[in-house]
Amino acid sequence: MTEETRAMLRSLPSLSGTAPSWDVDDLPGEPVSLFLAWLDGARRAGVAEPHAMTLSTVDESGVPDARVLVLKDVDDRGWAFAGTRSSAKGRQLEAAPHAALTFWWQPLVRSVRVRGRVVAAPREESVADLRARSATAQLGVDPDDWTLWRVVPTRVEFWQGSADRRHLRVAYTRDGDDWTAQS
Ligand SMILES: Cc1cc2nc3c(=O)[nH]c(=O)nc-3n(C[C@H](O)[C@H](O)[C@H](O)COP(=O)(O)O)c2cc1C
Repeated sequence: MTEETRAMLRSLPSLSGTAPSWDVDDLPGEPVSLFLAWLDGARRAGVAEPHAMTLSTVDESGVPDARVLVLKDVDDRGWAFAGTRSSAKGRQLEAAPHAALTFWWQPLVRSVRVRGRVVAAPREESVADLRARSATAQLGVDPDDWTLWRVVPTRVEFWQGSADRRHLRVAYTRDGDDWTAQS
């Protein structure tokens, strides 16, 4: 049974698709504009739900947890997502306000990772986010529980895979207000 599973998994293609051209010698000075350009490229290429991402947190014991969420906003304040404070992720973020986000866009063979501290947005932003959801999505949600958070990034990595294994990787790291990009 496991040999069958292994064979099946080996038969699956990985890093299939075609990566767009990307000049790593001509990078913006900060990661937000590059992220927005990649997100828009994914949207225009027809990637299904390119705003879906994995949010990773740790629980009170330091054990990782992860789930899929949708991205709500991105700007120089950070990457925004929303959910209930009473959820597992809400409790985990209360105890350990740090997170990582992971995006994977196929067939562009592109992935982005974001790490940083998590801060809750001002109450009125959370309420506005809830009000912007469909009536069905608002059903049964306690407005006081609904929270918009932002990952304030300290590191943002852009990775573009290639079938010939000549992958490209650029990592932006932050020192105060300054970003350094390394490829
Ligand atoms: C595509 C997709 C988008 C989702 N978007 C959200 C979201 O924006 N907010 C949210 O709280 N849960 C969202 N979920 C549900 C979460 O994956 C998760 O099940 C839920 O938030 C509970 O997670 P927790 O128990 O770790 O807190 C989404 C699930 C999928 C598959």
